[in-house]
Amino acid sequence: MAKRHPSFVCQECGAVYNRWKGKCEACGGWNSIVEETGAASPMSGPVATRPSRAKGRIFPLEGLSGETKEAPRTPSGIAELDRVTGGGFVHGSVILLGGDPGIGKSTLLMQASAALAKRGERVAYISGEEAVAQVRLRAERLGLGQAPVELASETNVEDIIATLSQGRPPALAIIDSIQTMWTETVESAPGTVTQVRGSAQSLIRFAKTSGTAVILVGHVTKDGQIAGPRVVEHMVDAVVSFEGDTGHHFRIMRAVKNRFGPTDEIGVFEMSDQGLREVPNPSELFLAGRDMATPGTAVFAGMEGTRPLLVEIQALVAPSSLGTPRRAVVGWDQSRLSMVLAVLEAHGGLKLGMHDVYLNVAGGLRITEPAADLAAAAALISSLSGNALPPDTVYFGELGLSGAIRPVAQEQARLKEAAKLGFSSAISPQPRLDKSKGSKSERLPLATSAIGHITDLVANIAVRRRKAS
Ligand code: TYD
Ligand code: MG
Repeated sequence: MAKRHPSFVCQECGAVYNRWKGKCEACGGWNSIVEETGAASPMSGPVATRPSRAKGRIFPLEGLSGETKEAPRTPSGIAELDRVTGGGFVHGSVILLGGDPGIGKSTLLMQASAALAKRGERVAYISGEEAVAQVRLRAERLGLGQAPVELASETNVEDIIATLSQGRPPALAIIDSIQTMWTETVESAPGTVTQVRGSAQSLIRFAKTSGTAVILVGHVTKDGQIAGPRVVEHMVDAVVSFEGDTGHHFRIMRAVKNRFGPTDEIGVFEMSDQGLREVPNPSELFLAGRDMATPGTAVFAGMEGTRPLLVEIQALVAPSSLGTPRRAVVGWDQSRLSMVLAVLEAHGGLKLGMHDVYLNVAGGLRITEPAADLAAAAALISSLSGNALPPDTVYFGELGLSGAIRPVAQEQARLKEAAKLGFSSAISPQPRLDKSKGSKSERLPLATSAIGHITDLVANIAVRRRKAS
């Protein structure tokens, strides 16, 4: 066996060093490097050593074309969860479910386990954090006390694998959480990245050989105390994040990586006293309690994967007392806001240099689509000018640096969703000249005013003042 040197491992990203450093050069994290024994050398994880052989085994190589079947899946029965995974848990795949502590990971997985177990599948729920009685108590509170889920409180990976390998392999095994697991193949202390990585490796091997779908729960912590689950992201088949802020009841599930399905679908849940409830029509939820008469709010007709989603974008533009005015944004990209502000100044004739600007996406949602530019711009212009936008209008479109409004994908789906929720008009980009479709004949579900440039939007909102006064 190779001689073990003490190694220093970054608990954020898993980089290994020969000596202690204050800052990790790989990920830039401060104070995240901790001494570990057993992480053999830089560059190597706790790879199981195997006896060296002079000759390798010859394996068959195959062509790209050939007989392939759709990966067999077990649907969870929770539609929002299945939407994110792409139709259910693929046999033998490993999903990492990450999220802040207390967001509802254990609750959701207990609900999914019970739903599967009730349909006659073998499901094992291994908790490394809570005692069996605690898990049982939660299941009872959720009204799932009778579901035949196999429960255990255990942290040793070898014992877990030996137990699960007995009898019919489970359809689903839940490991809550990967940070509490430890394996005998690695010497480091539980909770360190080396242990997390080693445990994950063993569990992944178990999933592949048994066909059991394994879900690893990973807490995302800001401080470096507990190993960040980021080190296992590249080893698993799917990384799903469960987000939301504890002040809101909504929880959004999003696939960050998915080898067997889409990565742009979201699942929306609501935390209630009976656990997590699915939200089949999130637009209604995100628009509930909307303040329509106040300047500075615009409804954005967005898309999350294949699903249209209407959200309210709120802006507050107020004179600043600071030398450098504040720019704060929640739920959207900071640099995107800077760009929209720059375009509004350069091409829209707005003076924002002496104003603080705040932008918020209502309901705790995080938007990544560039199509939100136009709605954000409308909210900003509305707040600055003091003119409330019409409450029955939705906005979408991408803003170019020249001030041009660029067309975005899936216009029809956005408009249909808006019409369904009672909106009667839309401010949108000029449609693409699509000869193949004979674009003019395409019926739009609501009245749209297509605008080509940011000046049209400014004029549109300014006209409202003249009409009102
Ligand atoms: P939990 O699933 O334990 O979170 P995680 O595993 O992500 O750390 O959920 C914790 C929170 O959920 C807790 O603060 C209480 C709340 N909760 C409800 O609001 N309703 C419920 O029915 C349950 C079981 C939990
Ligand atoms: Mg938990």
